[in-house]
Amino acid sequence: MSTAKATPPQLPKGTRDFYPEDMRIQTFIFDAWKRISLRFGYEEYEGPIFEHLELFTGKSGDEIVSQLYNFEDKGGRGLALRPEMTPTLARLVIQRGNAIRKPFKWFSIPRLFRYERAQKGRLREFFQLNLDVLGTESIYAEADLITATATMLLEFGLKPTDFMIGISSRKLLAAYLQEIGTPTPDLVYPILDRRLKIGPDAFAQALLDAGLSTEQGQKLNLLMSSKSLEEVKKIVSGSDSIEAIQEMEDLFEILTAAGLSECIGLDLNIVRGLAYYTGIVFEVFNKGASMRAIAGGGRYDSLCEKLGGARVPGVGFGMGDVVLADLLRDHNLLPAQSQTLDVFVATFTGDIKKTFVIANAFRKLGFNVVHPLSAIKFGKQMELANAQGAACVVYVDGEKAAEGEFEFKDLAKGTMAVGSLQKIAEYLKK
Ligand code: HAM
Repeated sequence: MSTAKATPPQLPKGTRDFYPEDMRIQTFIFDAWKRISLRFGYEEYEGPIFEHLELFTGKSGDEIVSQLYNFEDKGGRGLALRPEMTPTLARLVIQRGNAIRKPFKWFSIPRLFRYERAQKGRLREFFQLNLDVLGTESIYAEADLITATATMLLEFGLKPTDFMIGISSRKLLAAYLQEIGTPTPDLVYPILDRRLKIGPDAFAQALLDAGLSTEQGQKLNLLMSSKSLEEVKKIVSGSDSIEAIQEMEDLFEILTAAGLSECIGLDLNIVRGLAYYTGIVFEVFNKGASMRAIAGGGRYDSLCEKLGGARVPGVGFGMGDVVLADLLRDHNLLPAQSQTLDVFVATFTGDIKKTFVIANAFRKLGFNVVHPLSAIKFGKQMELANAQGAACVVYVDGEKAAEGEFEFKDLAKGTMAVGSLQKIAEYLKK
């Protein structure tokens, strides 16, 4: 038998462990996400972590498809770990068809997988809050989603100047591509999406390679550089483009009325990597040096139809936990690392059995309680109580223990008192 020591197991690249202190942060973020989603009237749903491969291929766009974790199961079926939630949501909607009253607003916090180059803010396994409104073409759906996003970020403690919600329109881009006679619009979106990243020369060359003329390339460059809808109006002329501008004007007006003018703006550089968007698209950026996308979304009116269902218009967004947690950490907005423990039951004499009994009595009254699991020195027990953030320490074998009264210490105030279990419970509830 080999005596060589086994190599300790390694964490897979791009994944995270959640130790209790990390889990507390995650719970803090998820709680706020859920609280505000419910406040805006969204209902929670879930789906499986893997889906048939075809649900994603051809619908999500080449970038996401190239990042799929896919495999064949023992029955020879092609499956993929979900890289995003929107196709699953569309599948759920198609399955129930008219049985779902429309419009409706749903949210979910799926665990997602993308085979990406792991880097700051981008992992191979992450969580993403999804909010979607389905069954309506009303621009108030976009307004609802954008307001909910902003509300979340503000409620986490960020200021309106800490982030920017950039708004653009796939409808406008599609209309303009048609207006200037682009032969291959689907090839052009990924290039437009990379415009700022690759620089002007590579952008012009990529458009030439996609079959556009130099003049068409210059026209597109001009449109995408526009800083206001007034500028856009001077460039476009087709009725579809005008309609798309009107839609954006309406949205800006509603969001301004909602008091969000400080954190919204036109940004035609937002194209979005996903193939199914058909209307307004938006992204939320951290305004610091890194400018990473905290969230992104848009309108996808033909996805359900493309997946074989009836036409159900939809709009939604996804907000990742990785960039958000980094941002909140940078702004010192994550909660202090302490457990929510109400009582630490201690013993002067090493009577662990009694601490066990009294701990359970407090738990029956609904408190979060721990006690030492073996006889340890009194000082060590106090250290543990403090380290675990207990609100109060109850001593089970003090002078009045025989009469059913216990000494207890409020750790925050440093005060001592004596009382029965019921009295201590009343004190803790105050
Ligand atoms: P997405 O832009 O691919 O959209 O992702 C939205 C957000 O998820 C990003 O802004 C980012 O915060 C986070 N995210 C994406 N990839 C990663 C990664 N590898 N690591 C960490 N975080 C990441 C969608 O997924 C759409 N399905 C959103 C949507 C919902 N559209 C309509 N409804």
